Amino acid sequence: MAHVHVIANQKGGVGKTTVTVNLAAVVADTMGRTAEDTPVLGVSTDPQASMLEWATRVGDELPFDFEQCDDDPGMLSRLRAITKYEHIFVDTPGTLENQSILEEVLRQADDVIVPIEPEPLAFQPAARTIQSVIVPSKVPWRVLINNWDPRDGESDLQQTREYLAAKRFPIFNTVIRHYKLHTRAAAEGVTVVQYAKNRVALEARQDFFRLALEVLGSNGGLPKHARTDAVVAAGRS
Ligand SMILES: Nc1ncnc2c1ncn2[C@@H]1O[C@H](COP(=O)(O)OP(=O)(O)OP(=O)(O)O)[C@@H](O)[C@H]1O
Ligand SMILES: [Mg+2]
Repeated sequence: MAHVHVIANQKGGVGKTTVTVNLAAVVADTMGRTAEDTPVLGVSTDPQASMLEWATRVGDELPFDFEQCDDDPGMLSRLRAITKYEHIFVDTPGTLENQSILEEVLRQADDVIVPIEPEPLAFQPAARTIQSVIVPSKVPWRVLINNWDPRDGESDLQQTREYLAAKRFPIFNTVIRHYKLHTRAAAEGVTVVQYAKNRVALEARQDFFRLALEVLGSNGGLPKHARTDAVVAAGRS
């Protein structure tokens, strides 16, 4: 049975699609199978289909299989039963309108990643999704701070961590930093694993390696050599 990881926050533009695509790419890449035989499936349940556009631009270089299935409730309700893949990463809509899709996907989920930006206006909408949809689903979840720009200083990050701690929300230790490379990736048709091999690109990739290690757990699902690769990459900056 596949592990189903759902990326959710009904606030728009917080990085759900960015996290889904790059996390799926890093996990698929480090699990090291061929493009024809990947253990990872990426699924978009967002009618806006931005992951579909991105995946289409990447084309044959996409290291995981991909399905757009917002209009396929049959498939959404069978995700857990899929045996062909070891990990399924599911992007979800960034609006309140499609809550039934999110609820259906959560019935299939093993864990939920809730991306938020270190920006006070984003806190309340994220808390709403957590309290009204994710907590009632009883699926384990953690908040992921995404799109923090170190050039803006530590105070936004600190304030975000304090807010999350006051709410007693569980969080990932990994923070996904802001990189122009990530912003441009969808339009350029690349994922983190295709970024050029320069220092900035390695730093940008490193955040997703760290996140993959946390999501999959200390022994979770990655073969031993891939865990070593990921640890090495994470220590590279
Ligand atoms: N860590 C990051 N660094 C740089 N740009 C980022 C980062 N995360 C997200 N972005 C940019 O922010 C914008 C919104 O990200 P994304 O589309 O992933 O959010 P979303 O939550 O999927 O949005 P929606 O709710 O509309 O589906 C995009 O332009 C994306 O490239
Ligand atoms: Mg999206």
